Amino acid sequence: MALFQSSTRNIPDAPRAPRHVAVIMDGNGRWAKQRFLPRVAGHQRGVKTLRELVLTCLDMKIEYLTVFAFSSENWRRPADEVSFLMELFVKVLKREFKHLHKDNVRLKIIGDRSRLGDKLNHLITETEALTANNTALTFTVAANYGGRWDIMQATQAMLRAHPEFIDGFSEDDLAAYLSMSYAPEPDLFIRTGGEQRISNFLLWQLAYTELYFTDTLWPAFDRTELEKAIASYQHRERRFGRISEQLQQDKPVA
Ligand code: IPE
Ligand code: IPE
Ligand code: MG
Repeated sequence: MALFQSSTRNIPDAPRAPRHVAVIMDGNGRWAKQRFLPRVAGHQRGVKTLRELVLTCLDMKIEYLTVFAFSSENWRRPADEVSFLMELFVKVLKREFKHLHKDNVRLKIIGDRSRLGDKLNHLITETEALTANNTALTFTVAANYGGRWDIMQATQAMLRAHPEFIDGFSEDDLAAYLSMSYAPEPDLFIRTGGEQRISNFLLWQLAYTELYFTDTLWPAFDRTELEKAIASYQHRERRFGRISEQLQQDKPVA
């Protein structure tokens, strides 16, 4: 039995307020460039934006926040930017893990950890363990994550555990091995920075997620911007394959 409803196998609830928000935090480099600053200043400023977003999600009682911090393709960037980002992760995690715990936040890191280095791996393991039973918000950071990597690692892990599945398996069988099996599928996806693409983020889980794109660069994405995204979400009709009339029928009588 899957823990959460699959949007393709069932018709899931469409909560009025998003329960799970997934974000591609894009535009740090351009934000810095506009200010004649080095790109890394944009990443630094982006951390501040993220810290505020976590607090806003706590305040709004959003249950799951998932952010894309570093993709499996971001290794293609100049080496000095990559090493700055890795050091920034270590610094931020060291500084923030106690605050996250105090705020009752459960931290999860998804992605291929084998390339993240010992220091970062150690910190991740420690912070995940410390915050494992926290209940206010599940905050997931995707680091060295790729949607294709996730589907492949899940397939491999599933077949290792159940070699008999080679003859056939269900969506739920595979979903149990995906990195985010502990969370419902995102209701709302936000990408800042003006690009309208998924960039290999949560390919499986975004099947029926409402997509919201904004030109606002990540360091400038504040509470008002999140409210705009949620307002847009609330105007969508989530049909999950059905027709509009069927949704009207299903509406409870007030
Ligand atoms: C997103 O901002 C942060 C990471 C990918 C780590 P960018 O660094 O991609 O900023 P732009 O897109 O170049 O402005
Ligand atoms: C996506 O941003 C990844 C993260 C925000 C971590 P990119 O800036 O790497 O995406 P592309 O290259 O423009 O698609
Ligand atoms: Mg970018």
